[in-house]
Amino acid sequence: MAAPLAKQIVLASRPKGPPTVANFRLEEVPVPTLPAGGLLLRVLYLSLDPYMRGRMDDAKSYAKPATVGEPMPGESVCEVIESDRAGFAPGDIVLAHTGWRSHAPWSGPALRKLDPKIAPITTGLGVLGMPGFTAYAGLNLIGKPKPGETVVVAAASGPVGSLVGQLAKMAGARAVGIAGGADKCRYVIDDLCFDAAVDHRANDFAEKLAAACPKGIDVYFENVGGAVWQAVLPLLNTFARVPVCGLIAQYSASGPPPGPNLLPATMRAILSKSLTLRGFINYEFAADHYPEFLKTVGAGIAEGRIRYREDISEGLENAPEAFMGMLEGKNFGKVLVRVSK
Ligand SMILES: NC(=O)c1ccc[n+]([C@@H]2O[C@H](COP(=O)([O-])OP(=O)(O)OC[C@H]3O[C@@H](n4cnc5c(N)ncnc54)[C@H](OP(=O)(O)O)[C@@H]3O)[C@@H](O)[C@H]2O)c1
Repeated sequence: MAAPLAKQIVLASRPKGPPTVANFRLEEVPVPTLPAGGLLLRVLYLSLDPYMRGRMDDAKSYAKPATVGEPMPGESVCEVIESDRAGFAPGDIVLAHTGWRSHAPWSGPALRKLDPKIAPITTGLGVLGMPGFTAYAGLNLIGKPKPGETVVVAAASGPVGSLVGQLAKMAGARAVGIAGGADKCRYVIDDLCFDAAVDHRANDFAEKLAAACPKGIDVYFENVGGAVWQAVLPLLNTFARVPVCGLIAQYSASGPPPGPNLLPATMRAILSKSLTLRGFINYEFAADHYPEFLKTVGAGIAEGRIRYREDISEGLENAPEAFMGMLEGKNFGKVLVRVSK
């Protein structure tokens, strides 16, 4: 009888500009065997995240690039199907960095278990996982919103931005979201209860943003860069804080962006308005703040005070399309792939 097969999607080649289907390859390989002292995992849901675009390049960064011919990196919710490790049994649901694959051996450090009775397991990849913690840490530890201040965030319907705005409201601030298109803007106001939402695709985006921020901006949570930063910069108040979380508008850039060079205006504003711009990668805050994040945001979800939205594609083979769509804003909520049921 033929051995059972697993699926994986490998980086076939490095993209030049936006990724294409040719940069990915679906492969069938034997199901891995249980490693001594470890676990054998079946992937249920794979998370697709903007940082993966950076890993496709062979560039120096905070994490090493993906290897051509190897599975794309990524975190997933998995079921333990075999265990040779105390404390883990078949049927346990865990979070693991498996990459884009249907099965994975695990012999690394202990994995976080998810309890479906506490929250849907998919939230471990979104609002109660890495993106949620990014929002929580960046806003509270760098942005530090005060009651009555104005907090602005782009990619506002996504997993990071949606929580930033909701936490800003809980801190007594005014939340203004920037999102692509009327449907996302409506969701940001009607479901997430932001005070205002502005469509960055509109021709009069800069004017609309200024109108939505009549007292200027005290905290700008930077998720995108590019043209959005150009519109935000003149609105920043003295002593404004800017947690620099992501720059998705430029992840696939192969040259300088069109339009003016914003560096001189940015440096002038940093000086003359005493701005604080602080880049961060979420895990630098995890050791000290992850437990309080899980407690606070977990309670908000359980009580219905915090909302989230997921955009789930079916089948590992559809991961490249879902990933490329996310980079263009075609997703509506946290992007996940259901790999197996
Ligand atoms: N520093 C960290 O530790 C950390 C951790 C997690 C995420 N991040 C960053 O946080 C940001 C949001 O991540 P996420 O997971 O919440 O992603 P997401 O919102 O699910 O997806 C990305 C969104 O970015 C928006 N976008 C794409 N190109 C844009 C452009 N040129 N101008 C304006 N908006 C654009 C699109 O939304 P619209 O259709 O609304 O424009 C798209 O849906 C990303 O930059 C990511 O890299 C950083």
